Order: sequence, then C-alpha cells, then structure tokens
Amino acid sequence: MSTSLPFDEQTARRIEVLYGSPDAIRRRSHVLQMLEPRSGERILDIGCGPGFLAAEIGVAVGPSGSLRAIDASAPMLERARARCDSLPWVVVQGGDAARLDFEDGVFDAAVSVQVHEYVADAEGSLQELARVLRPGGRALVVATDWGSIVWHSRDPERTRRVLSAFEEHLADPHLPRRLHSLLAGAGLPARRCEVLVQFNPRLDANTYSAGLLDLVQRFVPGRRGVSREEADAWAADLRACGAEDAYFFSLNQYFFLAEKPRG
Ligand SMILES: C[S@@+](CC[C@H](N)C(=O)[O-])C[C@H]1O[C@@H](n2cnc3c(N)ncnc32)[C@H](O)[C@@H]1O
Repeated sequence: MSTSLPFDEQTARRIEVLYGSPDAIRRRSHVLQMLEPRSGERILDIGCGPGFLAAEIGVAVGPSGSLRAIDASAPMLERARARCDSLPWVVVQGGDAARLDFEDGVFDAAVSVQVHEYVADAEGSLQELARVLRPGGRALVVATDWGSIVWHSRDPERTRRVLSAFEEHLADPHLPRRLHSLLAGAGLPARRCEVLVQFNPRLDANTYSAGLLDLVQRFVPGRRGVSREEADAWAADLRACGAEDAYFFSLNQYFFLAEKPRG
C-alpha cells in the first residue's frame, strides 16, 4: 500500500472532476487575484495537476510571457498538456518540487496549490522555489489544514477514525501552520495571508466535498484500522445526511503570498 495518495489514472480522473466544480473554480479565481499574473511574465506552476490553473495563467501571461508547469504524475501531465495545447508558450513537463530543474532567478513568480503538503521535505522544496525566483519575484503557496475539517455525520467517532486515516494521504496534513515561518526561513517573507473556506451546506454532486467523499472512501480502507465496510458505511451515512438535508461540510485552505527581497 502506498504511503500517500497515488496520483494514478483513477485519482487523476477524480481530481479532474473535483477541480471542475464551482468550488474549485472559486479557489482558482482567488489564486489569480492574489498572484496577479501579468502579460509577459515568466511563471512556474509547481505540481500543476490537471492543468486548469496553468491554462488560466497561460492566457494571462500571453505569448510574450511563458509558463512552465511541472508535475510528478504522468496521468496529470497528460491532462495538463491537453488543457494547455492551444498555448504554445506554456510548457508542461515532468519534475519534482524538491529538485527544480531550472537555473537560479529565472521566474517572475511561482505558484503551488495543494502540492507542498505532499512533499516530504517542504522546507527544502520552498528553498528550491526561492532559488528559482528573481529578486522581487512572487511566490504563492496554497495548502489545506486538515485539522480544520468539519464534516457532520450521525457517527462522529467513525468520522474521526476515517478522517484520521485520510491524513495519511499526504506528508503534512497541517502544513499551513508552518508555512509562514518556512517561507521566511527560505528567504520569502509573506506579505499577504488569507483563508478561503470550502463550505458545502448541502451535498450536491458538483461540489468540493462530493468529490472529496469519493476520494476518502477509496483511500482509507486498510489504514489506521479502518475496514472497507466501515469506509462504505461512513460514506453511505454522509450521503443519507445529504438526502435528508442534514449535511454540513467545511474546510479551510490557506493562501500565503510572499516576495523575494530585492538586493
Ligand atoms: C492535489 S493536486 C493539486 C494540483 C494543482 N496544483 C491544482 O491545484 O489544480 C497535487 C498535485 O501535486 C503533484 N505532486 C505531488 N508531489 C509532487 C512533487 N514532489 N513534485 C511535483 N508534483 C508533485 C501531484 O502529482 C498532483 O498533481
């Protein structure tokens, strides 16, 4: 059993659906509003996933700019390439956040949305991010704190066990708590920090939590004592809560915009 979420074909397909939801679109518009990509800029998207954000940044920088979008997963790269196909100044390539294959100071900005929590050495990876930025360059790092999740069910103890098992899907489920100081330590003082709440008071198929529910149900069996039957019963309970208008989901995602000092 892999230790973290395998970004294989099946997961990539589920994440692509999840990231097409209005909740994920709202998050991307917040990313663009904070990053402010401008025409002609050279930008790096670390862990581009299915490439929705890469395509939007690609349009913003235009043909006089460039975007490098890297990811460690082949199924994700395939989707990102297809999504950015009409933007030849966007280059989608394999790569590791922990060892960026770029010269020092070559980017005006870099963005990483829900990636550094999957990286074992978040500290070293943020130093890598800082290295490839030019002086005055911007870094936007977005991460979820899984300690902020509120997911109502009729069996809170079972929900606690399931969500504890789901914390194994990434290296640091509480990375946002360390991000301010990790960024400062990497030479990237934060100049704007914000939180966006994914809030679903109803279970709608086209919401963030509906997509997450499928991912959790598939991931947790066999972890921290959670059986497949228990995971299925948990998911069935949440769907029943949704059908009876007794649903409640809330999760915080944290945005840190930092800048590399000039000179
Ligand atoms: C939750 S997805 C987020 C995708 C994308 N940033 C977005 O918001 O649409 C996490 C992505 O990070 C990638 N990833 C995880 N660890 C990585 C690493 N060390 N280097 C590069 N990509 C990584 C995964 O393959 C996956 O595509």
